[in-house]
Amino acid sequence: MKVLFVAGDPKPERWTVPIKALLPEAEVHVWDPDGPAVGADYAIVWQPPEKLFERETNLKAVFNLGAGIDGLLAVPNLPPHLPVVRLEDAGMSVQMAEYVLHQLVEASRGMETYREQQREGVWKIHRPIKRSEWPVGVMGLGHIGKRVARTLADLDYRVSGWARSEHSLDRVTTYAGANQLQEFLGATRVLVNTLPLTDETRDILNHQHLSQLMPGAVVINVGRGEHLVDEDLLRAIDDGHVARASLDVFRQEPLPADHPFWQRPEITITPHISARTLRDATLEQITGKIRAHHNGQPITGIVDTGRGY
Ligand code: GLV
Repeated sequence: MKVLFVAGDPKPERWTVPIKALLPEAEVHVWDPDGPAVGADYAIVWQPPEKLFERETNLKAVFNLGAGIDGLLAVPNLPPHLPVVRLEDAGMSVQMAEYVLHQLVEASRGMETYREQQREGVWKIHRPIKRSEWPVGVMGLGHIGKRVARTLADLDYRVSGWARSEHSLDRVTTYAGANQLQEFLGATRVLVNTLPLTDETRDILNHQHLSQLMPGAVVINVGRGEHLVDEDLLRAIDDGHVARASLDVFRQEPLPADHPFWQRPEITITPHISARTLRDATLEQITGKIRAHHNGQPITGIVDTGRGY
């Protein structure tokens, strides 16, 4: 069995050495843009070039080194019937839950105020948090969204969730589909986006939807930059309707130096770090699935490419 690693890591051996250790029966190759076809059975990829599918015509499945497969589905010559397998959790959801909790607590407990007070040497106690004033709404109820919702519900926040299809989650009020979106947004002050990027979800965080949130809203975007209409967020902040936003993903990454987000004190920017791909957990999962697929066993995490996630 031949496995091809195709990701722009300047030190691919960080990946290929553990792949060989986990999958000793495989011949492991690193993508060489100018090299010949290797006749790979499986490719492990992150945003691969079109050339991959031109050259490697023997592929039986392609494994994405991330949870979001929008970058892979955007490759125009991805063969339509080639199974695409995405990362399932692999240590990401706990990181996301932690990141979202941090951003939520920054707002709900007014941590910025205490930092300012410290700078001025002020000891002043503000009234305690009322959880009922901070209802959270999680968009997307996959591995990540569910973990975020559960974590916040465990801390007694009022949590609801919205997804394309019906879900049932303990202590979380769930809403489904376009016709329940307005109701969901109306019950949400802290909006957390964990949706996959598809044609249906692109631009979903627009002025109309942001205006339907409860006043003093907080937006936490850990999905994709293309979910958010940048100018609409700035408008909603200027309207006074959205109080703050924590953004980890952007339409263009790195975020350009002249982007207005940098100048806004209401916006917290992090460079796509809310959940890092953890090499060990990731490769254990992927190599396990490659072995199973090679042995004709069923595997989970195959993407419905028509649906887009
Ligand atoms: C990261 O953004 C991922 O999709 O895993």
